[in-house]
Amino acid sequence: MMTPPGLQLPGTIHVAATADELYDDLALALMAIAVESVAARGVFQLALSGGSTPEPFYMRLVTDPRFRAVPWRQTHAWMVDERRVAEDDPKSNFGMIRETLLDHVPIRKRQVHPMPVLTEDPATIYEKELAEAFELPPPSAPGPAPGRGRVGGEASSGPLPRLDWVLLGMGDDGHTASLFPGSPALHERWRWIAVNDGPGVTPPPRVTMTYPLLNAARNLAVLVVGARKAITLQRIASQLRTGGPDPEHWPITGVQPDSGTLAWYLDAAAAGVDGSTSA
Ligand code: 6PG
Repeated sequence: MMTPPGLQLPGTIHVAATADELYDDLALALMAIAVESVAARGVFQLALSGGSTPEPFYMRLVTDPRFRAVPWRQTHAWMVDERRVAEDDPKSNFGMIRETLLDHVPIRKRQVHPMPVLTEDPATIYEKELAEAFELPPPSAPGPAPGRGRVGGEASSGPLPRLDWVLLGMGDDGHTASLFPGSPALHERWRWIAVNDGPGVTPPPRVTMTYPLLNAARNLAVLVVGARKAITLQRIASQLRTGGPDPEHWPITGVQPDSGTLAWYLDAAAAGVDGSTSA
């Protein structure tokens, strides 16, 4: 479908007439990148979001035989963010992702990485787990040299893990991952993972991948479905057009890949176009 005029977002915009078509397109994109990653590096590093939007997408990956070619045995599955609740709590992202997807595909148990949200310091533990899987040193506090930080603060001088494909969602308030407007984790410049808390975090507290880690990814996909989100997308496009990225108020605008790709996957309702018209 045609990209709606006026909806200018960074990266590429993919619009499908219906949510079901969109999930299919997204699954094909995931599969292509997964196969390419395994061919290039022998592994596919995947990070998944929670929320209600991706649930039918995860189920589709399991039920549609076209997607059986995803190389699950070579896949590591990471969590983009998580609420600090037990896995069997209905609010657990991992619980949902396990039930809808991971329990039904041939992924190795040791390559599934729930966030240790109930431990005292989940950020440090998850960073270590990432560091081991990517064979990198864990992140260290910044040195004197300016790094790749974008909105003040100093960035880590060390190498960042490069996730192959990160699936993000977007809330009505423009949050993504558990990076909420006005919340402390927006300012994290060297940690890969942060605990995020405070009045804007709903429900608090959360654990989230940070901008430095997300923006280092090779491919980022933002999945947005439904008319309810159309107004937010319009506001974001207008903010980007008139004032540029404003992560403090619209956290999704802080998603600016260092060298990877950013692709928006919208159904016609979210894109604000008539689903019956095709390009
Ligand atoms: C979460 C997320 C979050 C989500 C948005 C959109 O755990 O809540 O990872 O960033 O993607 O809140 O959520 P919906 O898909 O439910 O609208």
